Amino acid sequence: MRLDRFISHHTRLGKKRSRALIENCEVRVNKHIVRDPLLRVDRFDTITCGSETLQEHQAHYLMMHKPAGILSATKDPEFKTAIDLIDTPYAHELHIAGRLDRASTGLLLLTNDGRWSKQLTEPEQNVAKVYEVGLRDPIEERYHEIFANGIYLAYEDHTTQPVTFTQLNERRVEVTLHEGRYHQIKRMFHAVGNQVTSLHRTRIGKIELGDLSTGAFQTIEADAIF
Ligand code: URA
Repeated sequence: MRLDRFISHHTRLGKKRSRALIENCEVRVNKHIVRDPLLRVDRFDTITCGSETLQEHQAHYLMMHKPAGILSATKDPEFKTAIDLIDTPYAHELHIAGRLDRASTGLLLLTNDGRWSKQLTEPEQNVAKVYEVGLRDPIEERYHEIFANGIYLAYEDHTTQPVTFTQLNERRVEVTLHEGRYHQIKRMFHAVGNQVTSLHRTRIGKIELGDLSTGAFQTIEADAIF
């Protein structure tokens, strides 16, 4: 929303008087005096007019090491959710940016900033997600070509983007995805006749899970991921 509209809406002053306030250096956005009435502001900007705070709402960005058995959801009548593990006053505001299946473990991102989580899934951002995958049967050479050509997912009528993987041992691979279809890794290995026995996410964009212990969370910077 434009700053002059925001001021007008929150002070009930007309547009002309709102613009005058801005031009008289009475309005601060995130502590800085702003003189441009056309500046775009959003719900996470702190906006003051003289000594009065018109809006103060902080954006939160968190990473968590999701344990197995925890649901990637905000609320659930049956299972404990990732939000249930967060003991901050703003936990109820958060949502999950990129789910993991209940049995899967590893890096989970949470935020109250919907624009940020949407950005993570935009193809132009090309955010890589890295998984360590355990498999029931030994990896076969043919998987490389099949994954590179993409796998057709009938339900979505979508062929996956080329996927490469590095073999870690006979039944373990590291897979990097640049998209996030429902159960994508499980479905890809199912398509070649194998079965995923464990799935652990180690990285999203530039954020590494590192040695964050299971069930723990910490705050991150919004731009740390890109
Ligand atoms: N692919 C899956 O199959 N499951 C996940 O949790 C993530 C990617």
